[in-house]
Amino acid sequence: MYSVQTKIFAVDPQAPDPAIISYAVERLRAGGLVSFPTETVYGLGANALDANAVARIFEVKQRPSYDPLIVHIASIPQMDSVAEDIPELARRLAGIFWPGPLTMVLRKRSQVAANVSAGLNTVAVRMPNHKIPLALIQASNLPVAAPSANLFTRPSPTAAQHVIDDLNGHVDVVLDGGNCPIGLESTVLDLTGAVPTLLRPGGTPVEALRKHIPNLQLGQRYVEDNSGLTMPGPGMLAKHYSPNASLILFTGSSDDAARHHLEIVSQLSQRGYKVGVMTTDEESKNFSGLNVRIAVLGSEKDLSVIGQNLFARMRELEKTDVDVIVMRAVQSQGLGFAIWDRLFRAAEQHVFDLDKPIDLDSVLQTIKPKS
Ligand code: TXA
Ligand code: MG
Repeated sequence: MYSVQTKIFAVDPQAPDPAIISYAVERLRAGGLVSFPTETVYGLGANALDANAVARIFEVKQRPSYDPLIVHIASIPQMDSVAEDIPELARRLAGIFWPGPLTMVLRKRSQVAANVSAGLNTVAVRMPNHKIPLALIQASNLPVAAPSANLFTRPSPTAAQHVIDDLNGHVDVVLDGGNCPIGLESTVLDLTGAVPTLLRPGGTPVEALRKHIPNLQLGQRYVEDNSGLTMPGPGMLAKHYSPNASLILFTGSSDDAARHHLEIVSQLSQRGYKVGVMTTDEESKNFSGLNVRIAVLGSEKDLSVIGQNLFARMRELEKTDVDVIVMRAVQSQGLGFAIWDRLFRAAEQHVFDLDKPIDLDSVLQTIKPKS
């Protein structure tokens, strides 16, 4: 396993110190790993042209080698150094959405190390809207391959401490630029097929993309269910973003759903389970009479705040003694689609509809012993 002494630097996200950036550039050029904040989540970066450096990312994250990485660039023209046969639509979208949380899958140039793309002939490219990675990429003059800087299956890191918790001793540099403003990963859009296809909802809402891509289609993972809400097809749910405690997701939008939710949480608590409830400002008071841990995500009226807090609250709850984390899903419009997606993945198919009767035993069966 790649092991180093991790150096942590506090960096002003508005005015990154050039001396710290130069040090990080030196580590990147030497094949090292540098973690940096972006507007979405923290990335674990390596020189995208150096296959050995890229291999270290997969090794320290324990990420399967078949899962490709995103290449980060600092200007629109830099697209041409990592991708070729770039469609006009990609350039137009770059002009509109970059820098920002939109990743586009394009045809890969051979200069980009093959393992970045897990051997595919495509490459995912994005220009982050954050001064620290932009300064790093500009100063190094390198494309930087970076997945989220968490261990495989752990929630994505939205603060430097999360990176340190997962990867201390296995990353050369952590540039601590504070909390990530969006807190959810970028939207991934595949532009290499006949029809532009959404591979992952994220920080750029689908509704915003549709204005510019009328024929946008959702990837196979996302199908309409009969409640009209878009969710991952059950067979497609990869174990991903999972907290250590089991996460149970509740859906349902009737007036009765909130009451039903409270009743189930109360029953779990009575059975002796330590329950962590991720909830909104509005609903949190419902649970105050119960012996549960409450993690407040923010107002249901502001999904951007819920998105910012989602992964951090999951990490906080799992550090406590809870056996199970429960959450009632938010609406799926706008950023809500990305929030839904992350919750569905974290819940690993443990999803119950509060608008229907729920058998408590089937809920109990989903709670695994805490590791
Ligand atoms: O916001 C983000 O996108 C963050 C920050 C650090 O930029 N990065 C991130 O990377 O979330 P990661 O590795 O956790 O997720 C990358 C996603 C994966 O779902 C991967 O399968 C997809 O992008 N991806 C990467 N290259 C691809 C390709 N060539 N074709 C299809 N999907 C690709
Ligand atoms: Mg990730």
